This record gives sequence, C-alpha cells and structure tokens, in this order.
Amino acid sequence: MSNLKIRNALSNDLNVISKIESICFPSAEAAPKNVFKERIEVFPKGFFVAELNNEVIGFINGGASNENTLEDDFFKTMNLHLHNGENLMIFGLDVLPEHQKKGYAKELMNHFIEEAKKDGRKKIFLTCKQHLIGFYEQFGYVNKGISDSTHGGAKWYDMYLKLT
Ligand SMILES: CC(C)(COP(=O)(O)OP(=O)(O)OC[C@H]1O[C@@H](n2cnc3c(N)ncnc32)[C@H](O)[C@@H]1OP(=O)(O)O)[C@@H](O)C(=O)NCCC(=O)NCCS
Repeated sequence: MSNLKIRNALSNDLNVISKIESICFPSAEAAPKNVFKERIEVFPKGFFVAELNNEVIGFINGGASNENTLEDDFFKTMNLHLHNGENLMIFGLDVLPEHQKKGYAKELMNHFIEEAKKDGRKKIFLTCKQHLIGFYEQFGYVNKGISDSTHGGAKWYDMYLKLT
C-alpha cells in the first residue's frame, strides 16, 4: 500500500479541488467551483479526495440515480441526484500530473467501488475519452460505445460496472 489517504471531501477542500480540475481538464470540460460546492454539500458521501502528506493531490466524485446513463445535465447540477438511487454516476477522476502513473487514480477508483458496494448500489456509470477505455476496463467496466454526451464538445464513451 502507498501512503495515500483517502477521505470524504469537505467544503474547505473546494479551492484545491477546483485548482486540480483546472489543471487536469480543458476549460470547456472542467467543472466550475460552484458545481463542486453543490456536489460536496449535497452528496459528500460520493466525493473522495486523496491526500499525500496532508496535501490533496486528486479526487473522484459522483452522484446517485436510477438512470442507466450519465446525463450531461448532471455535470451542471445535483438536481438529478437521488440519494437512494440504485446506481452511481462518476463525474470525474483527477490526479495532479506530477502524481500520475503511481497508482493513485486506481486507489481512488477502488475506494469508490468499495463504498458503492457497501451502500448496496447496483451499477456505476461514467463517460470517458477513447484513450481511457483501457484504464476503466481494468476495474471491470464495460464499454457501451460512443455516448450521446456532448459535454465540452468532446467525443465520449459510455462505460458501466456491474456491482451485484
Ligand atoms: C486518468 C488519470 C486519473 C489516471 O491517473 P493515474 O494516477 O496516472 O493512474 P494510475 O497510476 O492509478 O493508473 C493505474 C493503472 O492504470 C493504467 N493506466 C493509466 N492510464 C491508462 C490508459 N490510458 N489506458 C490503459 N491503462 C492505463 C496504469 O498503467 C496503471 O496500471 P497498473 O496498475 O497495471 O500499473 C489521470 O491521468 C488524470 O487525472 N487525467 C486527467 C483527467 C482525466 O482525464 N480524468 C479521467 C476522466 S474520464
């Protein structure tokens, strides 16, 4: 195991989370700070940060729903979030470039999956770019093909992981 500590996000993580997002994603795709604020307030249980030496270096976050695809509106608002929804939707997974390729994203994803299982969720859905399909497949995610998503003007793939 690494020295990585994974914990739920707190409102005072907002600035560092927003900064990491702006480094990891182009501005058209990066979630704005107010959206992160709402996600942390509404569903802190689905928002995890990874710390190295007390410094946040990455995070993963999502919402719950009974839907079977991640809808673009979820990137803007938590109005679609259903606390007891049977499925989870992952909105983002970020690790700062200088800390990438050390297995930290994998630890964040495995933590998210374990917590989803503990809560009795059925599936996890996410959208990703083509070059990351292989990354998600290592956890068992299945590629459903090109997504209807037009988020940030990019081409996305729908992926899901069956938990039960
Ligand atoms: C995607 C991202 C989170 C990966 O972070 P990372 O810390 O480098 O990933 P890890 O080191 O945990 O990788 C774990 C494993 O995935 C593999 N992997 C990493 N990128 C991969 C890829 N593009 N395709 C296939 N496998 C990949 C690694 O080789 C490693 O495998 P191993 O355990 O067998 O050695 C990171 O690159 C990032 O933040 N990118 C910018 C934001 C982004 O695109 N996020 C995804 C949104 S859909």
